[in-house]
Amino acid sequence: MADNVQVNIDGKTLECPIIVGTEGDKAFDIGKLRSTTNFITMDPGFGNTGSCKSAITYLDGEKGVLRYRGIPIEQLAEKSTFVETSYLLIYGRLPNQKELEAFSDAFTEHSMIHEDMKNLFDAYPSTAHPMASLSAMVCSMSAYYPELIKENPTKEEIDRIAVQLLSKIRTICAFSHKKSIGEAFVYPRHDLRYVPNFLNMMFDSPTNPYKMTDEVVRAMQVLLILHADHEQNCSTSTVRLVGSSHANLYASISAGICALWGPLHGGANQAVIEMLEEIQANGGDVLKYIAKAKDKNDSFRLMGFGHRVYKNFDPRAKIIKKCADDLLNKLGIHDPLLDLAKRMEEAALKDEYFIARKLYPNVDFYSGIIYRAIGIPLNMFPVMFAIGRMPGWIAHWKEMIQDPTTKIGRPFQIYIGAPKTDYTPIEQR
Ligand code: SDX
Repeated sequence: MADNVQVNIDGKTLECPIIVGTEGDKAFDIGKLRSTTNFITMDPGFGNTGSCKSAITYLDGEKGVLRYRGIPIEQLAEKSTFVETSYLLIYGRLPNQKELEAFSDAFTEHSMIHEDMKNLFDAYPSTAHPMASLSAMVCSMSAYYPELIKENPTKEEIDRIAVQLLSKIRTICAFSHKKSIGEAFVYPRHDLRYVPNFLNMMFDSPTNPYKMTDEVVRAMQVLLILHADHEQNCSTSTVRLVGSSHANLYASISAGICALWGPLHGGANQAVIEMLEEIQANGGDVLKYIAKAKDKNDSFRLMGFGHRVYKNFDPRAKIIKKCADDLLNKLGIHDPLLDLAKRMEEAALKDEYFIARKLYPNVDFYSGIIYRAIGIPLNMFPVMFAIGRMPGWIAHWKEMIQDPTTKIGRPFQIYIGAPKTDYTPIEQR
C-alpha cells in the first residue's frame, strides 16, 4: 500500500500521509488540506472522520469485536470487576494484587461527598431527572475541590480527581435517588466494596434493610464493565472536545454526562423500556411497531436498535441478554417486557428493512430489563450508564491532555446564510 493519498484540487496536489492502526484500521491525514487547497471536508455526524489516535479501546463494527486495552470484552465481563476494569482503562494494564487493593481502598476513602454538597440536592425538585442533578453535581465538585482544577494538572492530581469521580459518582447518584423518593440519604460504608456500597446506598433504609445478593452484585459488575468505554462515541468525544480547551476534568465529564443523556445515546436504555411498556399497553403487537419503525412518516424508532459502528451484533447486547435471562431466573422474576423484547428482536432480525440497514440490538436493548429486576428506577437508567462510562471518559481525557499533539477542537463550516446585507433602521423595516 502507498504511503500517501494524493488529493488533486484546482491544479494543487496534496500528499496526505496514510496512518495504519494496530488492527489494520486506516486513515489519511488531511491536516494540510485547507492551507494547501483552501478546501475543507464535510462529514456531518463524523461518520467518516477520525478525531484522534487512541490506545484505549478497539472495536470492529463488522465483526462485533470490542476490546479494552486489547483484552476482549467477553473475558472482562466473565472474569474481571468494574474496579479492575477501570484501572485497566485508565492506566493501560491490569493491576497486580497490591495495586488493585490500593485502588479499591482509595474508592472507600473518597466515597463521601463534601457535606455542603447535600444542600445542592435540596435546591433540586424531587422530580428532577437525575441526569440533570448528576451533571450539576459533578461540575460543582470543582467548587468543593478547587485545589485540583489547575490548567495543567500533574499526573498525581489527575489520579486524585479520577478516584474522586469514580468513587463519588456512586454517592451522588444514590443520594439523588433517595432525594427523589423522599428518603434519608444512606452514607457509604467503609466495609463495603464498590458495587455493594452503591447498591446499599441506593436501597438500604432504617426500616427496610437491603438484602444484598451475589447474583445482583455480579449482574451490576457485568453491566458496569460492559459500559466502561466505547472509543469515540458522542459523550466521550464531548469530554475530549471540552477538555481540549483545557477545561478541568470535572467540567469535561459534566459535559459528557449531558451528551450521554440524549435518547439517541445513553438515554436509549430508558427509552427502550418506555417503548416496550407502550407496546405492551397497546396489545404487544410487535409487527405493528416494526411497521411504524419502518414508516418514514412515523417518528417512532425501534429504540435499542441500530448503531453507528456495529453493522453486526453488538457484543455487549449478546452478553447482557444472557445476563438478563440468568438473573431473572435466579431471582424467580418473570418480566413480560423481556419476552416482548425477545419477540421484537426476532421479528426485526427477519425483516428486510432491518437486515438491509444492518440494524441489530445494541447495548441499550436489554440492559433496562436487568435494571428493572434490580429495582433501579426508570429515570436512573441513563445514570447507570454514566457510572459505567466514567472510567472511559477519564481515560480518554487523560490520553488527550497528555498527548503533546492535542490541539483545541475547532471545526470549520460551509456558510449558507445571507450575503452581505446593510443594517436597516427600524423605521424602514
Ligand atoms: C449508544 O456510538 C457509540 O458507541 C454509542 C454507544 C456507546 O457505548 O457509547 O454504543 C451507546 O448510544 C447506543 C445507541 C443507542 N441509541 C438507540 O438505540 C436509539 C435508536 N438508534 C438510532 O437512533 C440509530 O441507530 C443510532 C443513533 C444509534 C445510529 O444512528 P446513525 O448511525 O446516524 O444511523 P442513521 O440514523 O443514519 O440510520 C441509518 C438508517 C436510516 O434509514 P434510511 O434513511 O437509510 O432509510 O437506519 C434507520 C434510519 O432511519 N435506522 C432506524 C433505527 N436506527 C437507524 N430505523 C428504525 N429504528 C432504529 N432504531
